[in-house]
Amino acid sequence: MSGGGESRGATGSPGRPERGGGWGAMSGPPILEIDRVGKDFGALAALTDVTIGVASGEIFSVIGPNGAGKSTLFNVIAGLHVPTRGRVVFHGTDITGLAPERINRRGLAKTFQITNIFPEISVWENVAVAVQSRQPESGRLASLWRRSPVDAKVHDLLEPFGLLGRREELAENLSHGEQRYLEICLALATEPRLLMLDEPTAGMTPGETKEATTLIRQIVKARGLTLLLIEHDMSVVMGISDRVAVLHFGEKIAEGPPDVVRADPNVIEAYLGGAED
Ligand SMILES: Nc1ncnc2c1ncn2[C@@H]1O[C@H](COP(=O)(O)OP(=O)(O)OP(=O)(O)O)[C@@H](O)[C@H]1O
Ligand SMILES: [Mg+2]
Repeated sequence: MSGGGESRGATGSPGRPERGGGWGAMSGPPILEIDRVGKDFGALAALTDVTIGVASGEIFSVIGPNGAGKSTLFNVIAGLHVPTRGRVVFHGTDITGLAPERINRRGLAKTFQITNIFPEISVWENVAVAVQSRQPESGRLASLWRRSPVDAKVHDLLEPFGLLGRREELAENLSHGEQRYLEICLALATEPRLLMLDEPTAGMTPGETKEATTLIRQIVKARGLTLLLIEHDMSVVMGISDRVAVLHFGEKIAEGPPDVVRADPNVIEAYLGGAED
């Protein structure tokens, strides 16, 4: 994260943005409704009147230049920040201001938040711990006698990411890309209906990024999940997103299918206006 917020107005501007306002065109009922959310950090309006609806089963990406408010939006959704204004509704229930753990239990998981990698235990043990944390108490007891239900889940989480062969390796010995995959496994181990990934390909080479985004899309679709993805780099989301919203200085300036958003003059202006790589 970097600056970019200094030149912003002190508080949220009134009214909705003319472009990109409203729910946008969704293919089904929203699993997640971000309803006129604002977030101030002191005098800084990090988010202003952001409204986004995410349909069940959709891959929805939030993009925008450095400091646009993407991570702040994710933190508001996941319960790490209480919004200054607005509501977050998940599966028809208002979750605004709930603690992160309670939001996670309702079926929403975000990488880097609920579970972190334990570097000094094996890849397999990392995922097993995360899976067991979601077993009911009776299930945990049963798993002492019969380990197979947990083992089967760990296997099914590691396998698609190509991490089965690395199962005995200490997590700290994984490559950067493998660690990012393990983090996604840990989020998936909490059995979410909505998965949120904040720049999952950060630090990857272009080749790794292409491979990773294809893999993430496959896994999300195979599990029937909804994915909310944050990306800094517009080109990364183009191939995998059903819809894209663009944040700029805390406001949503565009929303729609990737091709439409990419051609939007406001979006081009936002990306060329300063904060691109
Ligand atoms: N906890 C905080 N306290 C004060 N200001 C914050 C806090 N978190 C974020 N900000 C500010 O809010 C603005 C939005 O930051 P945010 O991290 O949401 O941007 P981002 O779009 O995720 O950027 P990046 O692409 O660099 O990750 C920035 O100006 C940032 O400095
Ligand atoms: Mg960020």
